[in-house]
Amino acid sequence: MDSLRLTCTRCSKKMSIDSLQGRCDCGGTLFVEYDLERIRRSFSKDTIYGRSASLWRYHEILPLREQGARVSLGEGWTPLIRMRALENKLPLRELWLKREEQNPTGSFKARGFSVAVSLLNERGYKKLAVPSNGNAASSLAAYAAYAGMEAFVFLPKDTPTMIVQECMLYGAQTYLVDGFIHDASAIITDGMEEQGWFHVGTLREPGRVEGKKTMGLEVAEQLNWDMPDVIVYPTGGGSGIIGMWKAFKELKELGFIHGELPRLISVQEAGCQPLVDGMNKDIESAEEEEGMHKVTAVTASPTGMRVPNPPDEGLILSILLETGGTAVAVSREDISTAQHVLGSQGISSSPEGAATWAALSQLLERGFLERTDRVVLFNTSHAMKYLPGRIDRKIPVVKDYRDWLLQNASHRG
Ligand SMILES: Cc1ncc(COP(=O)(O)O)c(C=O)c1O
Repeated sequence: MDSLRLTCTRCSKKMSIDSLQGRCDCGGTLFVEYDLERIRRSFSKDTIYGRSASLWRYHEILPLREQGARVSLGEGWTPLIRMRALENKLPLRELWLKREEQNPTGSFKARGFSVAVSLLNERGYKKLAVPSNGNAASSLAAYAAYAGMEAFVFLPKDTPTMIVQECMLYGAQTYLVDGFIHDASAIITDGMEEQGWFHVGTLREPGRVEGKKTMGLEVAEQLNWDMPDVIVYPTGGGSGIIGMWKAFKELKELGFIHGELPRLISVQEAGCQPLVDGMNKDIESAEEEEGMHKVTAVTASPTGMRVPNPPDEGLILSILLETGGTAVAVSREDISTAQHVLGSQGISSSPEGAATWAALSQLLERGFLERTDRVVLFNTSHAMKYLPGRIDRKIPVVKDYRDWLLQNASHRG
């Protein structure tokens, strides 16, 4: 029997991993389920020690069957560094920074796409499409290029120029969308059958969450399996938070870690803060509202945190609540100041990464952090990717799938 299958986080329905589905018919997110009881017989902390400095060091709990199908550009095993000078300014026991900007393509998104593209490669898919605020698009573009697949990326038209340019450098078919990430996603959903695209958007398939899970595995291993009290993560679609939570659950079941899970804290930019708003409501009402574009007046900057309508908001909120965490919103000005504070420590941080530092004073004031806490911040990308840049050629701006078809007559079917 295949030991890999998908399980719905909402209704517990099981299905074969070969469907590569991300959502169950009930609307819940599908997780890869491993036979951890069997795996733990031959997989130990010692087994991992000394393995390659890549996320594939955890291959026993990653969903690829055929290791030859692996699509790897050297992602993962990013440094986790102690921020002593900043720690001394705060009433905190320890402050650590996970340097995700050091991944291929300069963001943590490389992790999800290494695993997702590998799974699709294993099954022979060739045409992949993603809606993205930038970093997911450039990561898909890079991994698809390396695997010899075609990538179609759809980005809001105010996406940082350098990231758009990066997608084109990797050879992706690149389109700007007159709207937000959910409008970009609708173009792919409407065209996927006709165009033969596999939609690799957030929670559309199981691989990206599995790749992001490795951030949690690494934090645990890098801290010698002595878990932090708090993890502060910039959140948009939520698969980073979801993946890390899944990692900690699996590590517990494997007997690698013990005790309470870290309190998971999502940071968003004010002006697009569905999770912060959702924490003030009850989860059932958040689930009922799913699928609707709830946030109409979006004023936040174009970053990876700007996701007005996260695909499984109910799951993210339940994770934050279960771990005793929360969600906080920080202002654009605070993010900019935080980029300079991290810069003064030699760290190139994207607005998303800097938002985690910006959130700390608020969390301390609100009593969500304690003096005795060991805290890990995630710097999810580089400052450099967000600097003003120049695009070499005119990129089509599309409104919806019909408009895309009109502008791309050559792509009919
Ligand atoms: C740099 C960066 N940080 C954080 C996020 C949000 O991550 P998630 O979608 O996993 O919530 C994104 C998403 O685009 C991003 O690009």
